[in-house]
Amino acid sequence: MHILPEHFPFRVFEGFAGYGGASFGLIRSGVRHQVIGFSEVDNDAIELYQYNFPNVRNYGDITQINPNDLPDFEIFTGGFPCQPFSTVGKRQGQEDERGRGTLFGDIIRICEVKQPQYILLENVKGLLTGKMKHTFDIIIAELNRIGYDVQYAVLNSKDYGIPQTRERLWIFGKLGHLPKGFDMVPPTLPLQGYLADFLDKNPTPDLYKSQKQIARIHEIHHNEKFDVKEPLCYDIYNRKIRYDRICMTVTPPEHNVIRIIEPIKNGEERFRKLSLSEHFRLMGFRMDGKDNEIEFPPTQNYTKLGRRAGNGWDVNLVGILLNHIFSQLL
Ligand SMILES: C[S@@+](CC[C@H](N)C(=O)[O-])C[C@H]1O[C@@H](n2cnc3c(N)ncnc32)[C@H](O)[C@@H]1O
Repeated sequence: MHILPEHFPFRVFEGFAGYGGASFGLIRSGVRHQVIGFSEVDNDAIELYQYNFPNVRNYGDITQINPNDLPDFEIFTGGFPCQPFSTVGKRQGQEDERGRGTLFGDIIRICEVKQPQYILLENVKGLLTGKMKHTFDIIIAELNRIGYDVQYAVLNSKDYGIPQTRERLWIFGKLGHLPKGFDMVPPTLPLQGYLADFLDKNPTPDLYKSQKQIARIHEIHHNEKFDVKEPLCYDIYNRKIRYDRICMTVTPPEHNVIRIIEPIKNGEERFRKLSLSEHFRLMGFRMDGKDNEIEFPPTQNYTKLGRRAGNGWDVNLVGILLNHIFSQLL
């Protein structure tokens, strides 16, 4: 379904852009829009973003942006890095009870001046509990203070079609009031396939561990021979095979916790890393080799691109979420 906002152009500012999860998600959502700028500081992320969206300007470090220098926009999006906010005075006034001095504080600083109609934020679900709960309460209070009616929800990629357990907190705000009955949570959808269906047909040999390395894993993890009927995810951190046929949360390769176990071949166990296409397929991208939804700059290697996937938005989920939200609003 295509959604044409009443007042087109529907302009987007993409904060903390990474690979452009909001841009890819908006394209998927069918909401007609125009991204008027993004903010990102990581050079590899900037290169990847502009390789795919060459005409969008990077406004750089969000802490240095003067909101008056930005063009107007209708929606601010951002998956912001989040540190707990201290209370007044604890850190020599660097941070305060409004989160000023934090990256969230910069979202508020910009949106208070620019007053976009909508704000979509993302974070880890841990923000709702323990020590982070105080920070979460400040986030909601600050969004309310600058005029936004807010809903939030934890959504899991596996409930919207992608065989990955990835729980993320989504916060959506509308300037003024959300309409009565508005519900940001899209109805759940069946899986598009199990993990095995999301893997490459012919993974390259360099991804596989040697028989010696596999023997070492068995020794350290005290487990039996890996004998499975279909490819499954092995969680190195918790030392167990996931028999639910889906993948654990995709993380940057330096965390190094996901492995794929394939059925024994020619009497040998098969144990390997995820390929780059698999990383991105599990983040919702169409990666069929000929017509990939995201293109990789030739300068970037496995670690750099894998890091983007591990930190990125599931673009399948974002498309569903934005379509669901804006079909109730525009
Ligand atoms: C969790 S990732 C966001 C991923 C993104 N939503 C995507 O789909 O790829 C957070 C991003 O914020 C960026 N970042 C960190 N500090 C920043 C700053 N001061 N200004 C702008 N971006 C920043 C990081 O480089 C990182 O790419």
